[in-house]
Amino acid sequence: MTSTPAAPHPEGPPQGLDQTERVILRAAEEEGAGCPCDLIIVGDVTGALTAAALELTAAHPEARVWSWSSSRAETAALADRFATQRRAGRLLLADGEQPLPLEVFAADADAHLVLARLPKALAALDDLARRLARLAAARGREHLTLIAGGRVKHMTRTQNEVLAASFAEVRASRGLGKSRALIATDPRGGLPAPEPATGSARIAVRGGERQIPLRGIGGVFSAARPDAGSLLLLGALDAALLAGEVAAESAVDLGSGNGLLTAYLAAALPAAQVLGSDDDADAVVATAATLEAAGLSRPGVTVAWDESLSRVGEGSADLVLLNPPFHDGTVVDATLVHGLLEAAARVLRPGGQLWFVHNSHLRYRSELATRVGPVQQRARDRRFTVLSATRA
Ligand SMILES: C[S@@+](CC[C@H](N)C(=O)[O-])C[C@H]1O[C@@H](n2cnc3c(N)ncnc32)[C@H](O)[C@@H]1O
Repeated sequence: MTSTPAAPHPEGPPQGLDQTERVILRAAEEEGAGCPCDLIIVGDVTGALTAAALELTAAHPEARVWSWSSSRAETAALADRFATQRRAGRLLLADGEQPLPLEVFAADADAHLVLARLPKALAALDDLARRLARLAAARGREHLTLIAGGRVKHMTRTQNEVLAASFAEVRASRGLGKSRALIATDPRGGLPAPEPATGSARIAVRGGERQIPLRGIGGVFSAARPDAGSLLLLGALDAALLAGEVAAESAVDLGSGNGLLTAYLAAALPAAQVLGSDDDADAVVATAATLEAAGLSRPGVTVAWDESLSRVGEGSADLVLLNPPFHDGTVVDATLVHGLLEAAARVLRPGGQLWFVHNSHLRYRSELATRVGPVQQRARDRRFTVLSATRA
């Protein structure tokens, strides 16, 4: 392959980008976008990096952009926005029904640059770095550079150390406003595939104590540890199940994370259809791994990579469990819950129940009552409150 440099932007990176995107693109231009001229983009929350990559590679008719996100919603948004470029074969996306590991998706990419937003969790950064190092090794490519940008206030020295486990050289770019990029070059060879984190939870299942092994992948919420809010919810739900207040032939764990709630449903409702569903690919893989480790994989227990139960029929569920996110990346955002409550209300049959846990300092009772139906408080401690709402 020839090494013709791509035309840099004459006046710097395009406008309309946030500072982190601009610092990533400036570092990419300084690294030299040339050939091999495919570009790999990871975690493009706004679509701006993918747009800029398409523009940067436009001078090379054979160049392709491989944009991978662990979020199903983000991937779907990219598919909508860049439908024309996809049809033209310029853009590739991993938007199948099941998540595709980055190194499998991008196995045929002829790239020397990967542009990414720094993931919030160190485990997710380690996972990303290892997958890229393995991708480079599989292609016999020594010169793969990762440029990962973020807000300086969220960056730590430990991120450099994590990257250094998979790349021989790690340095920081010049800052731009409050953003900066880490630049990792020379991927190390012979790295093993990322291993899931392991842990367990002791919970009551129909009154009997049961140890559930947990698996955490990449940036999954709570890694392989049980979340305290989920434990409070499960204690109250199991008591209600024993008391005959809850029965379900079809149960859903909306936002399944490491799969603890899905595993409970599969164990406590052995005859029910159980669905663990999450927008995050790491969570989907972790939930499936938890079910497998717990011996709870069976016909009727499924795990889906899906945003807000988009593939689940209206009125089809008797029970939905929801331990919702209150953070968008690093920012607290209580409105994230609204779409999930709407999804729960849509899939519940009349009389079906939503079980919901939230931080005790927030107020959700009236929100649940409006969007779902009559509410009961089921448990409360200093940190968490568990509510149930019956679909009107
Ligand atoms: C607070 S975690 C709870 C995880 C797990 N249920 C537990 O109890 O440990 C919330 C989960 O919701 C997922 N999530 C956020 N928005 C979503 C959406 N729109 N559709 C599906 N899952 C979503 C996140 O990826 C995350 O795994």
